[in-house]
Amino acid sequence: MLDFTFHNATKIIFGRNTEKKVGEEISKLGKKVLFHYGGGSIKKTGIYDRVVESLKKAGVEIFELGGVKPNPRLSLVKEGIELCRKNGIDAILAVGGGSVIDSAKAIGIGVPYEGDVWDFYSKGKKVEEMLPLGVVLTIPAAGSESSGGSVITNEDGWYKRSTNSVNMRAKFAIMNPELTFTLPNYQTAVGAVDIMSHVMERYFTNVKNVDFTDRLCEATLRTMIRNTPIALKEPENYDARAEIMWAGTIAHNDLLSTGRIGDWATHGMEHELSAIYDIAHGGGLAIMWAPWMTYVYKHDIERFAQFAYRVWDVEPDFRNPEKAALEGIKGLKEFFASLGIPVTLTDAGIPDDRFDEMAKKATEDGPLGQFVKLYKDDVKKIYELAK
Ligand code: NZQ
Ligand code: ZN
Repeated sequence: MLDFTFHNATKIIFGRNTEKKVGEEISKLGKKVLFHYGGGSIKKTGIYDRVVESLKKAGVEIFELGGVKPNPRLSLVKEGIELCRKNGIDAILAVGGGSVIDSAKAIGIGVPYEGDVWDFYSKGKKVEEMLPLGVVLTIPAAGSESSGGSVITNEDGWYKRSTNSVNMRAKFAIMNPELTFTLPNYQTAVGAVDIMSHVMERYFTNVKNVDFTDRLCEATLRTMIRNTPIALKEPENYDARAEIMWAGTIAHNDLLSTGRIGDWATHGMEHELSAIYDIAHGGGLAIMWAPWMTYVYKHDIERFAQFAYRVWDVEPDFRNPEKAALEGIKGLKEFFASLGIPVTLTDAGIPDDRFDEMAKKATEDGPLGQFVKLYKDDVKKIYELAK
């Protein structure tokens, strides 16, 4: 196990009706609040009205900015920064999923910064400060409610890039599993894939003697494997929705990466897909995992065999770990397919004519991945395997 510092200060407020506390919580962070949200689901589901009521009760001044698209865009971020500066806004409330939260984080780091906010995403500029952020989560998936990450798409060239900092964690996240009852099955499924992906990116590590976090990762994956099909069949099953929602936060709040180094190549390859083809992030991940695993499993057959035994209940066969490793990969792909989402590029309607460009963009800042380093040609071969 490697040395580590773990500090996650996001206050989690979890359970039924918790969104009623949003006014009280955000008023501790500021008096002029940017209320940031997406394309309108919160109005259809009624969360919008409940949030506004709670904010009004708390006496905060509300400035609204809706319209965040999935795979959030830089242009709206810039609009948000201007709005905040013009009105002296001192706190941000994101009501939605990863896209809204990431857009809110980008606005929050852009306001105090004199240069172009894209510098944080493209030039590796370090984030020193962010306007205080509160979250009401409506979809468990990206884990942004307590991660230090933000992913933004720059329409100029369709670059999807991320930035990370401990200074970018939300101050609080309100998580009511009932708010996720209205998710269409597709969003539930791709959200589950993203949650599982955050665990697997951490699981495939070269660091030895990480038994405790291995077991935590395996438990999180098994929780998702058990509860996602239930939520798809019974969208209003509170218990299944609650398991998924909490697993989604734990998957990406950095607890599971303590003492180990994660890989993250699959996320890198996926971001090219969602940048160019504007598909859901989890939808792209569902396609990229099995090809990545097939390409790299020989690097550590024992780890892939352990994944197969402990996560996919493959019968242990210690004389033939390679066979078990391959069965584990098959188990994962079959599980994703069972959620009713495409697991190949062809099924997702994505053509094969831009692999070279995507592989080049994905490796522009250096090779992808820590478990196995992937250069442009490797990435291109993995896109080929994903066809
Ligand atoms: O926009 P609205 O109308 O609100 O609809 C949204 C959107 O269309 C809908 N939705 C959300 N809650 C709903 C609902 N529909 C019905 N009922 C509800 N309760 O769901 C759609 C998807 O929302 P989005 O926020 O895009 O989903 P997600 O949470 O999966 O976020 C994806 C973004 O997060 C990034 C991804 O790359 C992608 O851009 N990620 C962010 C990370 C981070 N900050 O740490 C890490 C992740 O790996 C990921 O890269
Ligand atoms: Zn992700």
